[in-house]
Amino acid sequence: MGEIISVTAGKGGVGKSVIAANLAAAMHTLGKRVILVDADAGNAAADQILGVRDRVVYSILDVLEGSCTIMKALVRVGEGDTFLLLPGSQVRVESALIKDRIAKLLRLFRDKFDAVIVDAGNCPGALSEEILMMSYRIVFVMTPDALCVRSSGKALRRLRDIKPDTTSLILNQIRIDLVKSGVMPMPEKVIQDSGLPLLGAILYDDEILASVQKGVHVVNVKSVGCREFLNSARRLEGEDIPVVLKGKP
Ligand SMILES: Nc1ncnc2c1ncn2[C@@H]1O[C@H](COP(=O)(O)OP(=O)(O)O)[C@@H](O)[C@H]1O
Ligand SMILES: [Mg+2]
Repeated sequence: MGEIISVTAGKGGVGKSVIAANLAAAMHTLGKRVILVDADAGNAAADQILGVRDRVVYSILDVLEGSCTIMKALVRVGEGDTFLLLPGSQVRVESALIKDRIAKLLRLFRDKFDAVIVDAGNCPGALSEEILMMSYRIVFVMTPDALCVRSSGKALRRLRDIKPDTTSLILNQIRIDLVKSGVMPMPEKVIQDSGLPLLGAILYDDEILASVQKGVHVVNVKSVGCREFLNSARRLEGEDIPVVLKGKP
């Protein structure tokens, strides 16, 4: 049986979708059969990030509403069928039926894949609590800035209520130059205040920004920022890889 690993945050724009897609690619690189589920209803992104947008016909919403089969909606990422995507929808939904069905869908994927990576959207959110409740691990994403710190508080309290001990933090878009000049808060302080164990620290990296425009994952790119996706996947797998907070800006 595989593991459901969900990516969530307290606000948009912090990098949930980029991190979910690249963690999925990293897990695949580690030899796992992976499915990436784009469940941030209304904010489909994974198809663009992984460069398969042209091949998407149906979305997770079509599957949950019963208007298409799972097989029809799944899209292959790369060669073979060991890395699949269930594309997201551009429509936001919030019905009891769909909440019930997402749980069933994720259980089914858990039986068929080694890793089920879910872009769960923001917490609290349309489907996110349903998804987070059944996740084996939750990756909470923050950026070191005042607005993110502020909007993360509510989500962190909610996560402590529903899922203590399974959540870890990825601090994303760190700019060492701005930390040094005092514009960006110290990463160590943000991490400590979150109360979460640290899974990864990703620098702001032009390669990551460019990859989203191009539609390619960055797991094999050698920059300090990009390397952290594979490192984080390895840490999720239990490997002891120290997180280095200082790096080239
Ligand atoms: N570490 C990073 N370095 C540079 N750009 C990043 C980084 N992480 C995310 N981005 C960019 O930030 C934007 C928002 O990321 P996204 O994953 O869509 O956030 P969310 O899913 O939380 O709304 C995207 O344009 C993405 O390319
Ligand atoms: Mg997103």
